[in-house]
Order: sequence, then C-alpha cells, then structure tokens
Amino acid sequence: MNAVMTPDATTTAPQGLAELRAVDITAWFGDHKVLDRVSLTMAAGGITALIGPSGCGKSTFLRILNRMHELVPSAQLAGQVLLDGEDIYDPGKRLIDARRAIGMVFQKPNPFPAMSIRENVLAGLRLTGTKASKSTKDGLVESCLVKAGLWKEVKDRLDAPGGGLSGGQQQRLCIARSLAIRPRVLLMDEPCSALDPTSTRVIEETMVELAREVTIVIVTHNMQQAARVSDQCAFFLATQNTPGVIVEHGDTTAMFQHPLDQRTADYVNGRFG
Ligand SMILES: Nc1ncnc2c1ncn2[C@@H]1O[C@H](COP(=O)(O)OP(=O)(O)OP(=O)(O)O)[C@@H](O)[C@H]1O
Ligand SMILES: [Mg+2]
Repeated sequence: MNAVMTPDATTTAPQGLAELRAVDITAWFGDHKVLDRVSLTMAAGGITALIGPSGCGKSTFLRILNRMHELVPSAQLAGQVLLDGEDIYDPGKRLIDARRAIGMVFQKPNPFPAMSIRENVLAGLRLTGTKASKSTKDGLVESCLVKAGLWKEVKDRLDAPGGGLSGGQQQRLCIARSLAIRPRVLLMDEPCSALDPTSTRVIEETMVELAREVTIVIVTHNMQQAARVSDQCAFFLATQNTPGVIVEHGDTTAMFQHPLDQRTADYVNGRFG
C-alpha cells in the first residue's frame, strides 16, 4: 500500500532551525498568579536550561511554550509565544500545529507500554493524522531511533513492547517518538530525573546531537547537567507572596562562574532550593 498523502512530515525537507521567544508571559491558576511578565528568547539551535527552586513556575512556563497550559481548566495566560516571530496563540493558529512544531518530553518516561517499539515511534503520526508508506515509516523509525541514540540497542527487536525497555531506553524511545513528527523545538521537563547517571549521560549526549536540528529547552534541577548541556540558562524564582520571575538569564558559563545576582550565586552554588 502506498498511501503517501499530505500532510506528510516524513518526506518534506527539514525546516530551518527555529527561535522560540516568550514575551511578557503572565500565568494564573484561578486567582493564583504563578508567573509575572516573563520574557525569554530561546535561540535557534541552542539548548536553553531553565533552573530554579521547586514551585517557581518552570514547568508552567514550559507548558505555556506548547499550549499545554490551557488544558488545565483554571489556567489563564497573558503574553505571547513567538515561534520564528509568529504567535502560537494567535486566534488564527491551530493548537495541533503548535503541538506538532513544539514537542515535549516529560520527567517520567511515558511510552505506550504494550505497543511495540516501532509503533511507539510512529504513534505521533497517527495522532497528527499523518499518512506514510511502509518504507517511509521504516526509514523514519530507524532515523528517529538513531537520533535518539537508541537504534543499536533495539534494532533487532523493533516488534518487542516499549514497556520492556529500561527506564533510560524508554526515555530515549519517547525522544524518538517526539522526533518522528519533526518538531522544530523540543521541550524537556526534567527528562533525566528518573534515570541513573549512565542513562543520564546518554540522554545528554543525545541532546547535544539533536540541537543541530531542533531547538531545545530543558528544565533541570541538576546544576551540573545545566552546565554540561546548555548554552543559555534562565534562573526562575518565586517567593511566598510573589509569582515566578526570571532573576537572571544569559550565557550558561558566565552565569555559573560570574552570576550578577546574589540569589543566582546562592542557587547555582547549592545554598538554597
Ligand atoms: N494544575 C495546577 N493547578 C493549580 N496550581 C498549579 C498547577 N500546576 C502548578 N500549579 C502551581 O503553580 C506554581 C508553579 O508550579 P510549577 O509546577 O510550574 O513549578 P516548577 O518550577 O516546575 O516546580 P518543580 O521544580 O517542583 O517541578 C506552584 O505554586 C504550583 O503549586
Ligand atoms: Mg516542574
């Protein structure tokens, strides 16, 4: 069967690297304001790390970047999210297009456990209504698993269930699944916090490779990880009575070695949070 139809993410030429820019993002859950006019430019082809203590709004900010915040009934939002200059919240823009362009990997690996490794990689195509021939799919499964750093470990058992992989392998499977719909940005919320140090390093290497073709934004509580993988870093902070803001952002090396704000210095040196 050769059912190649548009839209077909698998045969179109790769798009250029995309910049993601958040402008004056304010977010609420009910009347609880959790972010206050947060602006941040996440450079095309860069890795931006979001750091800060628990509850300061990092995950909320990340979910706003691909329109997942609006799934929470009490959630409200002001501000803009510009993907290469176009606001993903513009009334003329479709939710599905934002989700396709801006993928997400979560803290806990969440493959479909009973589905085969191969079907897991292809799952996003079905959800986005993308059709492809068998040979196109085979090529896509291989290329995404290669990019996610998992191909060698699973190439002889693509029909085995995704749930049979180790935690680190499952997380790389989830990365491969995100890549299959050719996102322009990949958001990762503490992607290694459930993994051992070896798997963590494999994912970090994968991220550095992926940044050649996809803009990456990662939330991490691990300062060494932020220092190892990110080019740019943003330090979020909320206090008991004030919503989350970015205290400081910029080049990661500079921010870790010569932070401008005392609170950044205290946080990156493990003195709180
Ligand atoms: N679904 C929700 N409903 C109501 N309040 C929420 C919801 N999700 C998050 N919040 C609140 O928003 C604030 C920011 O939470 P968020 O999860 O974004 O923080 P975080 O920086 O990711 O924290 P952590 O490092 O612990 O993951 C917190 O005060 C939290 O209680
Ligand atoms: Mg979080």
